[in-house]
Amino acid sequence: MNSSKAGSHIHSRNILLFGANGQLGSKLKSLLATRGTVRAVGHAELDLRDLTMLRAFILGTNPALIVNAAAYTAVDAAESDAENTQLVNAQAPRVMAEAARDCNALFVHYSTDYVFDGTAHTPYTEESPVSPLGVYGASKLAGEQAVAASGAAHLILRTAWLYSNRGKNFLNTMLRLAAERDELRVVNDQAGCPTYADLVAAASLQMLDGLYVNGQLRADRCGLYHVASQGETTWWGFARRIIELAGFGERVRVLPITTADYPTPAKRPAYSVLSTDKLERVFGIRLPHWEDGLKRCLAERATPK
Ligand SMILES: NC(=O)c1ccc[n+]([C@@H]2O[C@H](COP(=O)([O-])OP(=O)(O)OC[C@H]3O[C@@H](n4cnc5c(N)ncnc54)[C@H](OP(=O)(O)O)[C@@H]3O)[C@@H](O)[C@H]2O)c1
Repeated sequence: MNSSKAGSHIHSRNILLFGANGQLGSKLKSLLATRGTVRAVGHAELDLRDLTMLRAFILGTNPALIVNAAAYTAVDAAESDAENTQLVNAQAPRVMAEAARDCNALFVHYSTDYVFDGTAHTPYTEESPVSPLGVYGASKLAGEQAVAASGAAHLILRTAWLYSNRGKNFLNTMLRLAAERDELRVVNDQAGCPTYADLVAAASLQMLDGLYVNGQLRADRCGLYHVASQGETTWWGFARRIIELAGFGERVRVLPITTADYPTPAKRPAYSVLSTDKLERVFGIRLPHWEDGLKRCLAERATPK
């Protein structure tokens, strides 16, 4: 991490963004454009499983900052597709981080609350022991470890229960089902913290700004952080609030069920709330309570920009 480039301010420099069409990536794309020239790369342009191509592409772009919002996020499909999951979530981030190191770029990577097994009863910190339950969580953990070992200046940002007005996510599924049915059955024995992807993107930008002091990289601020909303709920609690706030409350009933009532290929942690104390302590950033994040997301849905 001796680089003059990673040590210089990212403003007006080349920024390479992977996963540009995902929930988080699409918001990052617009926000990062305020900080430099963004090369936003989607799946159609580059398949991250082609590791040789990936490395050549990065070195050819010579970025000052690489942001990886791409991932194999289909948690259940991953159980029977371990090879591709591992390639996208572990091998590709390793190649990105090593290329970042080689061109002296800062690397920002995202990970998940599913690195934990859910046996805790209080929020997980960055120091809490990890023990993923499924293929997706294990692949994301392997990605984290590869990035940390690469020698690149990096941020690894673990987030949780992401949703937005774009793409396939729990919020959009609930709103679609509420329009079709008058009763929804939702799991009430998995607790976590729903987090609006746009808030994670905004926090990422604030972190990037806070990483540079007088144009120099604060290496002591690099590393692993939890970035999620405040508070906690279950999928049922989240669904109920979505239905109420979206105005379906009179017509649609949301019934609590157990994980055993709704078996899925992947095991999920029963509790995966993330402590964000480190984020607040180091960067002074605190995301809003999850209900406030949801209100904001729904308000932005009503008035699309
Ligand atoms: N979603 C959540 O609830 C959640 C929770 C915790 C952490 N996270 C983490 O947060 C980050 C962002 O998640 P997200 O919800 O924004 O993800 P997302 O909406 O699923 O977007 C991921 C993007 O990665 C792309 N991608 C997948 N395989 C690829 C490949 N082989 N080559 C190139 N691109 C590929 C996808 O493109 P295609 O759609 O075309 O394949 C998609 O645009 C990820 O690191 C994820 O692990 C997510």
